[in-house]
Amino acid sequence: MPNEIILETKNLRREFGALVAVEDVSLQVKAGSLHSIIGPNGAGKTTFFNLLSGNIPPTSGRVILRGKDITNLPLHKTAHLGIGRSFQITNIFPNLTVLENIRLAAQALGKDSFRLFRSYRAFPKYEVRAWEVIEQVGLTNEALLPARTLPHGAQRKLELGMILAPDPEILLLDEPTAGMASEQVPELMALIQSIQEAGHKTVMLVEHNMNVVMSVSDKITVMHHGAVLAEGTPAEISANETVQTAYLGHLYEDTAVSST
Ligand SMILES: Nc1ncnc2c1ncn2[C@@H]1O[C@H](COP(=O)(O)OP(=O)(O)OP(=O)(O)O)[C@@H](O)[C@H]1O
Ligand SMILES: [Mg+2]
Repeated sequence: MPNEIILETKNLRREFGALVAVEDVSLQVKAGSLHSIIGPNGAGKTTFFNLLSGNIPPTSGRVILRGKDITNLPLHKTAHLGIGRSFQITNIFPNLTVLENIRLAAQALGKDSFRLFRSYRAFPKYEVRAWEVIEQVGLTNEALLPARTLPHGAQRKLELGMILAPDPEILLLDEPTAGMASEQVPELMALIQSIQEAGHKTVMLVEHNMNVVMSVSDKITVMHHGAVLAEGTPAEISANETVQTAYLGHLYEDTAVSST
């Protein structure tokens, strides 16, 4: 069970015209692990997530979920199969409250989603689920406030809550700490880890903050120009000379500069 592969890609490739954004990426994600994808801007990380979640189709290659080929399934189908996806641009409804946003996210994947006007009886179920999630992400005091009034850090928690609401098995988090003040980052990461551990979930993380990546990841895949440059544990990746010269050395310098 601990070594079970939940998600796998085989030679996954995506071209945009002449540009190869994702170049024949084969990787395996273990169930229950926190697997990070790192690499410089434009390396293909977001495109790779888009291929996993069915947001865009690949040019070639395969995506396999629990042994089942899901390669050409669109976003709403992969969501029903348990892949929860965050976007770099948030999908929050600014004028709805935190509670309403999370309840809608829960409801969107419920069985009643196509019968909105007939689903009043199902409402309490989603309301209960929404409160559960609100507590889990620590937004109880903000639950009845319009989303637009939340500070940035709380909006990122709301976003996490919206992914969590339908209880996905796999969470694809694309830069969840982007734009957050550095002192808020550890709290959000601790939250992500607690969600992963409590729910036995698999988390895939794209993150530029190397201190975060090195401390939370079980496994790291380094992408460069669309291809996999290296893969390993945080210790292996830190010690990898190719990665150091291509990427990490200068990023650690950035982190040191920006955090002082
Ligand atoms: N829809 C698109 N059409 C054309 N080119 C695209 C499209 N989406 C991404 N690209 C290109 O594919 C490459 C990979 O982009 P991607 O957004 O996946 O990188 P990334 O690793 O997520 O970068 P960042 O760290 O800046 O978010 C880039 O050169 C980008 O310009
Ligand atoms: Mg990106």
